[in-house]
Amino acid sequence: MRKKIVAGNWKMNNTLQEGIDLAIDINKLAAEKADKNVDIIIAPPYIHLSEVGKLIDRDRVLLSAQNCAAEQKGAFTGEVSAEMLWSVGADYVIIGHSERRAYYHEDNTILNKKIKLALDNNLKVIFCCGENLEQRESNKHFEVIKKQLSETVFTLAKEYYDSIILAYEPIWAIGTGKTASPEQAQEIHKFIRSLIAENYGDNLANETSILYGGSCKPSNAKQIFANADVDGGLIGGAALKAEDFIGIVNSFK
Ligand code: PGA
Repeated sequence: MRKKIVAGNWKMNNTLQEGIDLAIDINKLAAEKADKNVDIIIAPPYIHLSEVGKLIDRDRVLLSAQNCAAEQKGAFTGEVSAEMLWSVGADYVIIGHSERRAYYHEDNTILNKKIKLALDNNLKVIFCCGENLEQRESNKHFEVIKKQLSETVFTLAKEYYDSIILAYEPIWAIGTGKTASPEQAQEIHKFIRSLIAENYGDNLANETSILYGGSCKPSNAKQIFANADVDGGLIGGAALKAEDFIGIVNSFK
């Protein structure tokens, strides 16, 4: 049985103290009222990881970074390596987020280096893919997603897949308030699962969790999570309020 997962990407929000307060609230609600069948992951900014990691109960809430460097170590001013993230207690790292691809020009070559370094340094990977509005409107979304995955995670050996979570995040739905319809989400998730099956076989396809991301909130999560191939969510805006975030965790039937 594949895992149900809700991950919160805090992006570049919150001072350290605000982050600590949010983590304490999420940790409390996770213990008190969150669905025990759902894995909860929070991804605060780099500088919060060490402190936040000490505050959360790791049996209930796991810790992710939002990015890592594409090099192991050395003269790369301002970068943070996968090994450093592991050393402060990160369990996961998000790689391939559309904001990293768009604003920091991260292409598949860079993303592959990051995936490899993350896995080599004991981190699990939440890998994002998704099309922009123009690609969807010109009916290229299947092709775009296939290429994004074929040139990155599908180059990995099967053995790595217990450390891989995929996330489908249509760029036109991120932070825009426009959510993919449950049918649109299911259609793409099913397509991604069929690609995993083509590359690695049905068993692995059935075991790999695929999250939806893009304006997911407590009010629409139930409909999205009700689909057979949607295994949870990667949440941005709504992950910044503990009640909303745990409301989304509790949106599985
Ligand atoms: P959003 O962001 O929920 O604010 O749309 C999702 C994401 O970028 O992961």
